[in-house]
Amino acid sequence: MDFAEIPKPKPAQMAVRPNLVGYERLRRSFQWEDLYKELDWLPGGSLNMAHECIDRHANGQRRDQAALLWEGRNGEQEQYTFDQLKEESNRFANVLKGLGIKKGDRVFLFLERIPELYIALFGVLKVGAIAGPLFSAFGPDPVRDRLNNSGTVLLVTSPDLRRRIAQVLPQTPALKHIIVVNKSGRDSQPLVGGDLSYEGLMRQASPQFEIERTTMYDYSVMHYTSGTTGAPKGAVHRHQAIVQQYATGKWVLDLHPTDLYWCTADPGWVTGTSYGMFAPWSNGVTQLIYEGGFSPSRWYELIQRYKVTVWYSAPTAIRMLMKAGKELPGRYDLSSLRHINSVGEPLNPEAVVWGMKVFKQAIHDNWWQTETGAILIANYPWMPVRPGSMGRPIPGIQAGILDDDYNELPPGKDGHLAIRPGWPSMFHAYWQAPERYNSRFLKGWYITGDRARVDADGYFWFVGRTDDVINTAGHLVGPFEVESALIEHPAVAEAGVIGIPDPIAMEVVKAFVALKDGYQPTEELRRDISRFVRQKLAAAVAPREIEFIATMPKTRSGKIMRRLLKARELGLPEGDTSTLEED
Ligand code: PRX
Repeated sequence: MDFAEIPKPKPAQMAVRPNLVGYERLRRSFQWEDLYKELDWLPGGSLNMAHECIDRHANGQRRDQAALLWEGRNGEQEQYTFDQLKEESNRFANVLKGLGIKKGDRVFLFLERIPELYIALFGVLKVGAIAGPLFSAFGPDPVRDRLNNSGTVLLVTSPDLRRRIAQVLPQTPALKHIIVVNKSGRDSQPLVGGDLSYEGLMRQASPQFEIERTTMYDYSVMHYTSGTTGAPKGAVHRHQAIVQQYATGKWVLDLHPTDLYWCTADPGWVTGTSYGMFAPWSNGVTQLIYEGGFSPSRWYELIQRYKVTVWYSAPTAIRMLMKAGKELPGRYDLSSLRHINSVGEPLNPEAVVWGMKVFKQAIHDNWWQTETGAILIANYPWMPVRPGSMGRPIPGIQAGILDDDYNELPPGKDGHLAIRPGWPSMFHAYWQAPERYNSRFLKGWYITGDRARVDADGYFWFVGRTDDVINTAGHLVGPFEVESALIEHPAVAEAGVIGIPDPIAMEVVKAFVALKDGYQPTEELRRDISRFVRQKLAAAVAPREIEFIATMPKTRSGKIMRRLLKARELGLPEGDTSTLEED
């Protein structure tokens, strides 16, 4: 090991006693059913995430406690108690019911990080519909594809975002209603013909609502995630996921009732729902939601001003904070921070060590995926941290490292990271893609698509991905989606997309493009293609670099050999090229 293990005090000596101690003992005897009694449930054994996160607290002692402290991008501030969130989400549930939305319908949310996004999402859950939050930086194509694949009937959006996707809305035949949120009257012309006004509907809606009696097996939330081939797939979760989101909020984030929690992720990605809504609120904790983007000084200032105690962020953000220098954090009082967590990409050991200097504590890496719904492998407040390791499986989870025949390997060997299926927050489907779903389960394991190894003490170490999916700043980008956008440009004949290493974002998207006859590979054309793709997708997932090549390396069956493009780009051995067809 290159970096020394970071020891931890004994739980009894810690200022706040961790929620999870006695890890080994708990792991041995643990059953998920043991946790069921910590949830509130609805009459008749119904389970609804909105009740567990909001109403249970509003009906109890936390009624007047702040649930959400919101800081807008222009410095606006709002505060909602659990009781206010209950009433507002009830209103929105009534709005949905009035529009005929029923259990199982898909309602998608394409909004900035404003309180209405959170209110709307819980309203959707209250009527038993399936909520699909979309990343607010998306361009028109990803939005259209997701709305169509899911058969979304109602979209909640904002005037700006609606304008951005206006051109594709006529191509979404299942969509019946568009509700537009004009936050604080920010927009002077919020509505287009046929749109419904959020504010208008909410004014008329009752704050009383009886939550749909969903069972733990009913669908709740879906998030699109990218795979190697084909378009992104909608991973669908069930209300049951709340059991594990609650548990990991307690064990891994170590949430205590007095905490002020901040998760920097956008709810368009799974971290922003599982840990920006469900985990903190099922634990009854107050959380800060910041609408704005990344800015080192702003982030430090928010931690200082809100006295954030538990913080959940991502390696790219941490690397950007590192880049902003050691002096900057010294200008802020960051002493409120008690526990820091990170997810989404490998957290470099250097970043953990930097955290020790700047925050006087380790940054705790943990691992999970859209499909897993909640954290599965983690570093815990009481457990020594091995910088560079993702930690150890949570109680109730058995993780293994498998060889290429999917048999378990001993510690120390690299292989497929796999999980024994059946944990509560496990996805239950890829929307209308059962073969895709089934293909993830082999020999009694869920195959994650990551490679890792485990050491003799049960700490897991990330090695890489087994597929072509690109991880840029924690966002998974499917090469196929980017290639599809590129070939819509009139000059592009073929496109191959790979990830290339980047010191901050881990990987950035690079596209290789072969032009149609009659087009010249000029700088102007490159810029035009780049603009075209950015406008269609999102800056975050569009190629950072575009390189023209004369011919695209392909297999005889016509598949683009991204592996070869990558090897050539990085000057690595080209490996087996016997299936290559190049003219
Ligand atoms: O490759 C792994 C990487 O992110 C993938 C999951 O991404 P997504 O489905 O978007 O879920 C994001 C919510 C966590 C994983 O398959 N990944 C996630 N956490 C880590 C990681 N890679 C290395 N270290 C991690 N801690």
